[in-house]
Amino acid sequence: MGSSLGRLFRVTTFGESHGPALGCVVEGCPPRLPLDEAALARDLARRRPGQSDLTTPRREDDRPRLLSGVFEGRTTGAPIAVVIESVDQRPQDYAAMAQVYRPSHADFTYDAKYGHRDPRGGGRASARETAARVAAGAVARRLLAERAGVEVVAWVEAVADVDLAPGEVDPLTVTAADVDATPVRCPAPGAAARMAAAIEAARADGDSVGGVVALVARGVPPGWGDPVFDKLEADLAKAMLSIPAARGFEVGRGFAGARLRGSQHNDPLVPGDAPGAVRPGKHDAGGTLGGLSSGGPLLLRVAFKPTSTIARAQATCDRAGRPTTLEASGRHDPCVLPRAVPVVEAMALLVLADHLLRHEAQCGRAVTGAAPLAGDARLWSGLLP
Ligand SMILES: Cc1cc2nc3c(=O)[nH]c(=O)nc-3n(C[C@H](O)[C@H](O)[C@H](O)COP(=O)(O)O)c2cc1C
Repeated sequence: MGSSLGRLFRVTTFGESHGPALGCVVEGCPPRLPLDEAALARDLARRRPGQSDLTTPRREDDRPRLLSGVFEGRTTGAPIAVVIESVDQRPQDYAAMAQVYRPSHADFTYDAKYGHRDPRGGGRASARETAARVAAGAVARRLLAERAGVEVVAWVEAVADVDLAPGEVDPLTVTAADVDATPVRCPAPGAAARMAAAIEAARADGDSVGGVVALVARGVPPGWGDPVFDKLEADLAKAMLSIPAARGFEVGRGFAGARLRGSQHNDPLVPGDAPGAVRPGKHDAGGTLGGLSSGGPLLLRVAFKPTSTIARAQATCDRAGRPTTLEASGRHDPCVLPRAVPVVEAMALLVLADHLLRHEAQCGRAVTGAAPLAGDARLWSGLLP
């Protein structure tokens, strides 16, 4: 249970950390969308371990194989199945942890629920599962770009106590190339260097650090989402908090906004570019109002805890409930943030692709050109007798 996300653009992932392969099945993707393995591989390469000194040295090629749903470089409308085979498995790395629960990892809760656990990296709780999400997210990225001109960019905003200065990165213009220019995936080189030093210092101490990923989705037209349980920000929150090690979610000003007055926080509405169009004049609400996209950039943040598996001795219990000490072995990320960036993007892309199709199914075409309501109404008037 719980391995699927989305209603119309529906993704199911499968596979465990040290199984022979993992992957995803994407249902509902419209036909005739250009798609090939290279598009999936580009996104997967950003999540892959071993990209820099700041991530785990585990070697996972993460080469995607498209098994179905694509013919001659275009989607067919059939389920798209992607498989990623596992290489460089070293189950012996986990031998010492087979009977001992890692504090802050899923070992204890898995055992409590299922009565067994896969000590080789955490089974379904392993962040390796996120490779399947990134593959599915690459399909969603293509759909959103082709159909609606939407682009999604995430970056590292904080590591440990190193923060970007306010305004140091402009969400309206930041690009994936800016983000990937530093190994930390922070587009401000000075802050990125300080973040890298914080990660190195934690690793040297046999320890780990957490941080914050920020994301912008540009080009989302007004009206995507739903007003009650499936508010756009509610679906995004669920998607983001489903990422391993995610511990907090904010949209727009988030928790800081709770300390402002309405006169400070409210985004004025101003005329948009097209005749009759309206848009927010600033973006403290983060691009949604009443669960529906407002046409402004969608802005959100995800907080990640420090990696749980660390080399330092930690107090814990074994499977028999006896107190013990664990000094974890294996090759772990001293900070998950640089590799979490493409995963955060993937989750946003999946939610947005689903809401694009849902909006089209209920209201007509997603991209309306002129004033959104007038545009949709025009479409409806063409459909109705
Ligand atoms: C990209 C990424 C890489 C991760 N790498 C590791 C790792 O090397 N070692 C580890 O213990 N946890 C790692 N995690 C986090 C664990 O998978 C996660 O903490 C664990 O499954 C428990 O789930 P929870 O933190 O959501 O409660 C990573 C998470 C992400 C998003």
